[in-house]
Amino acid sequence: ESLWQCGTDLQGRHFVITAGPTRESLDPVRYLTNHSSGKMGFALAAAAQRAGAEVTLIAGPVTLPTPASVKRIDVVDARQMQEAAERAADLCDVFIAAAAVADFRPEQVAQEKIKKTTGNDHDTLTLVKNPDIVAAIAARRERRPFTVGFAAETEKVLEHAAGKLARKKLDMIIANDVSEADSGFNSEHNRVTVIDPNGRTELPPSLKTTLAKQLIGMIAERAFPQ
Ligand code: CTP
Ligand code: CA
Repeated sequence: ESLWQCGTDLQGRHFVITAGPTRESLDPVRYLTNHSSGKMGFALAAAAQRAGAEVTLIAGPVTLPTPASVKRIDVVDARQMQEAAERAADLCDVFIAAAAVADFRPEQVAQEKIKKTTGNDHDTLTLVKNPDIVAAIAARRERRPFTVGFAAETEKVLEHAAGKLARKKLDMIIANDVSEADSGFNSEHNRVTVIDPNGRTELPPSLKTTLAKQLIGMIAERAFPQ
C-alpha cells in the first residue's frame, strides 16, 4: 500500500510543500492574489504521504480538503508563508515550492476601507517586493533540503524555467505552460517538463494526481540516490 503509488518508499523522510496563492491585503476589504487553485501542491502532498513520507503542507487561501495524514499549516500572505516555510524547512529532507506567491504586496495596508477620491479618474498603488521563499531556502548553507521549484510560464517556458533553476540555485524545477487551455492554473490537468542540472524530461499531459506520483518518484530518485 505504501509502495505502489510512485514505486518509492519515503518512510522516514520529511517533505515540506507550499501550495496555493497568497493573498496580499490592501485594506480591510480588498486584496491582491492570483488564479492558483492549490491542486498541484495538494496532489504532491498526498502522493508523498502515500509513499510513506511525513508531509507538512503550507497552504495559502484555497478551498481544498487536507490530504489524509498530512500536517497542514494555513497562511494568508507571502510573509506568513515564508515564516512557516523557514520553520518547517529546518527539519525536512525535501522542500517543494508549488505555491504561486504574490511577487509584490501593497506598500501600505490601510486600516480603514480606502475611499474613492472625488474628482480623480486615476489612482496608483505602490507595491513592494515580497521575499522569495524558495530562493532563500535553496541559498541555505546549513540544513538545506533538496529544493524543488515550479515555473508557471506563458511564453519561452523552458528558457524561463531553466533561468529560474540557475538563478534560485534549485535542485529541480518543474516547468508548466499556463497559456494552454485546460492546463496549469485551476485545471485538473497539467503538462510539465522537469529540468535539473543534468537535463530535461517532458512528461505526457496528465491529471495532476497522476503527475504528482511521477514527480514524487523523480524527486525521490534524485534526492535519495541508491
Ligand atoms: N516563489 C517563492 N517565493 C516568491 C516567488 C516565487 O517561493 N516570492 C517560488 C514559487 O513557489 C515557484 C518558483 O519560485 O516554485 C518560481 O515562481 P515564479 O513566479 O514562476 O518565478 P518568479 O521568480 O517569481 O519570477 P516571475 O514571476 O517574474 O516569472
Ligand atoms: Ca512570480
